[in-house]
Amino acid sequence: MATQGRVVHLLQQLQRASCRCPAHSQTYSQAPGHVTTRATDYAFEMACSNIRYGEGVTNEIGMDLQNIGARKVCVMTDKNLAKLPPVNAVLDSLVKNGVNFQVFDKVRVEPTDLSFIEAITFAKQEQFDAFVAVGGGSVMDTCKVANLYSCSPDAEFFDYVNAPIGKGKPVTVGLCPLIAVPTTAGTGSETTGVAVFDYEAMKVKTDPLHALHMPNRVAAYSGFDVLCHALESYTALPYSLRSPCPPNPINRPAYQGSNPISDIWSKQALRIVAKYMKRAVQNPDDHEARFNMHLASAFAGIGFGNAGVHLCHGMSYPVSGMVKTFKAKDYNVDYPLVPHGLSVVLTSPAVFTFTGSMCPERHLEAAEILGTDTKTVKREDAGLVLADTLRNFLFELNVEDGLSAVGYTKEDIPALVKGTLPQERVTKLSPRPQTEEDLAALFESSMKLY
Ligand SMILES: NC(=O)c1ccc[n+]([C@@H]2O[C@H](COP(=O)([O-])OP(=O)(O)OC[C@H]3O[C@@H](n4cnc5c(N)ncnc54)[C@H](O)[C@@H]3O)[C@@H](O)[C@H]2O)c1
Ligand SMILES: [Fe+2]
Repeated sequence: MATQGRVVHLLQQLQRASCRCPAHSQTYSQAPGHVTTRATDYAFEMACSNIRYGEGVTNEIGMDLQNIGARKVCVMTDKNLAKLPPVNAVLDSLVKNGVNFQVFDKVRVEPTDLSFIEAITFAKQEQFDAFVAVGGGSVMDTCKVANLYSCSPDAEFFDYVNAPIGKGKPVTVGLCPLIAVPTTAGTGSETTGVAVFDYEAMKVKTDPLHALHMPNRVAAYSGFDVLCHALESYTALPYSLRSPCPPNPINRPAYQGSNPISDIWSKQALRIVAKYMKRAVQNPDDHEARFNMHLASAFAGIGFGNAGVHLCHGMSYPVSGMVKTFKAKDYNVDYPLVPHGLSVVLTSPAVFTFTGSMCPERHLEAAEILGTDTKTVKREDAGLVLADTLRNFLFELNVEDGLSAVGYTKEDIPALVKGTLPQERVTKLSPRPQTEEDLAALFESSMKLY
């Protein structure tokens, strides 16, 4: 007892003596009356939706909705997909099982706040008790948002938008069940409790047959989204270095930093991408490759949905948001568009060159998985080697030669940097902190890739 008492006394003395400035102190107050002893987090959590995977699994959806007792279902999709087999398969199953539903097919490819609001308004007018999203990330994200706001009718649009852009409120309302039927092999949005918003009650039907319909560029760009999800989550700041330490578990962000469980999913997604992505893009009839990329999307989603992404994604939002005239092939839209996967991957060689020094082993391991022999590579060249590996990959799949090829010039860099700054949610997860000058240099070296 005496010894224990002495230890406690010593610890108390040490604590009193420690530096109190916010930069060095391990003791600081986060909420009135609440003192924690850590500046950074000490725990992490795995969130994931239920996943059902198999050819033709979409046909079960009507039965699932009956099983959960849905009385009025909202089916969301985009205009293009509304005419294609994935949506037909869902509607057939609903009709066969006597499910009462309405279709909203006005989802915008690459949604905006206005297109979100249109979907929310539709969902609020009816009393839906279940949602079905049939499409890529654009549809799934829109559907999650429509569900969230129709279950939270008094919320204002910015309530659930991440700080500092919005208020970043945690979701405490009950949500309706949402079944996602992903049709691209990319975003992993179907697996995550995250989209643009925190989200919980979701089930997924991953039907690999839908991946067969993807046009060439959709397969390529959504595949690069998977690749970046895997790489960014694997190289993200470790969760135990992320600050602040949440005073209450509800404040722990969905994107928590790399952690041992996410690592497994991200690395496995990377292995599948390495083996199948080129085949899946180059040959739409290669079922094995397309099916596996569909699975890789979900694997990477589980990884990044909990660990988060960092600079490629943080810098991608202004790249797609400030688009001038570039129109991606195969996307079937009548407005300028830099698709998400393309906007993300164009900065990846610059980003991993920049982050390489913070966790060289992980960068080397990623380059090795993607097919580069790294045995004789020096640790200090880890970032460069991963960047070269990515450049070759991009070149082989005919990706546009940098930001200049999608319409940007050096004059746009200050605006691109300004557009990245509010994306703290992800940029803070970069293993290497970055200044505005660093961001400008990253955009500049992404102007041309080859
Ligand atoms: N929630 C998340 O965690 C998350 C992660 C990454 C990306 N995203 C978001 O997802 C969006 C991008 O989604 P995406 O890459 O899946 O593509 P998408 O949903 O934007 O669809 C791209 C195009 O492909 C068409 N298409 C989709 N599936 C098809 C199929 N099977 N056959 C034929 N055409 C098909 C669509 O009609 C559309 O024209 C972006 O808005 C991005 O910000 C979300
Ligand atoms: Fe993404």
